[in-house]
Amino acid sequence: MKKWYAVLGDPIEQSMSPFMHDHWFQENQIDATYIPIHVTSERLKETVDSLRMLGCSGWNVTVPHKQAIIPFLDGLEESARIMDAVNTVFRTDDGRLIGANTDGQGFVKSLEELFGQRAQGPVLIIGAGGAARGIAFALKSAGYGPLFITNRTVEKATVLAGEIEGAAALSLAEAESRLGEFPVLVQTTSVGMNFAEAGMPLDLSRLDSAAIVADIIYNPLKTELLRSAEQVGASTLNGVGMFVHQGALAFQKWTGVYPDTKKMNETITMKVGG
Ligand code: ATR
Repeated sequence: MKKWYAVLGDPIEQSMSPFMHDHWFQENQIDATYIPIHVTSERLKETVDSLRMLGCSGWNVTVPHKQAIIPFLDGLEESARIMDAVNTVFRTDDGRLIGANTDGQGFVKSLEELFGQRAQGPVLIIGAGGAARGIAFALKSAGYGPLFITNRTVEKATVLAGEIEGAAALSLAEAESRLGEFPVLVQTTSVGMNFAEAGMPLDLSRLDSAAIVADIIYNPLKTELLRSAEQVGASTLNGVGMFVHQGALAFQKWTGVYPDTKKMNETITMKVGG
């Protein structure tokens, strides 16, 4: 029987996940489809109950439901427990709904895809919210680091760093003055995103020209931060790769297949870039 998958969010029209997963189903000759479902917070529980009853095989969860969905599931994978957030739900053979989180690992895979073993040495993570948390834990467990976390609200950086062995928090001023020590920077805040805050979350004057600068934002494809990094000769990575790999990891949980991410990266880049 044809399987079906979904993505739940509010808003949801902008999501490129249906395009991406439908493309991968076709490419891999899997008889399945993937639909966007607009779900408001008040309707989240009844939506999950309905998907369970109607036999949905799995789904993604996006803003603002990543945390709120947890009580309605039957269990969590460690990735979701650590992040206290779910972006992927799959069914076990006995029908239980398990929440996972592929965001952090998706970022690590996109970094590796582009730079291989080049991303070595101290990593500066900018931001201390949910995205930073997932990325920090995934980087740590993949052996990157040592990790340094800087954030506008330094107390949040201190809390996150305190949960990760060997990690340290820095104020923005400290991070800016020590920027030359970091061969890898990872920008996880919303600063620079279309329709959010314009500008840059920290000053790059002291950036090492051999550094790798990653921004998890993919719209615009090139944030002001990435543009400035390029101007000093640094290598850059935008958020398209993370988006594609978090989806690929979900797809693998559902189907057992890790789909073609390179071609998808080019397609999504074209879609976003117009
Ligand atoms: P997400 O799940 O996308 O990480 P979040 O958990 O709300 O979202 O975290 C948002 C992050 O972006 C935080 O690090 C936040 O900094 P604060 O902790 O100081 O709020 C950061 N952020 C958001 N807007 C910002 C701005 N205008 N300047 C600097 N940092 C900002």
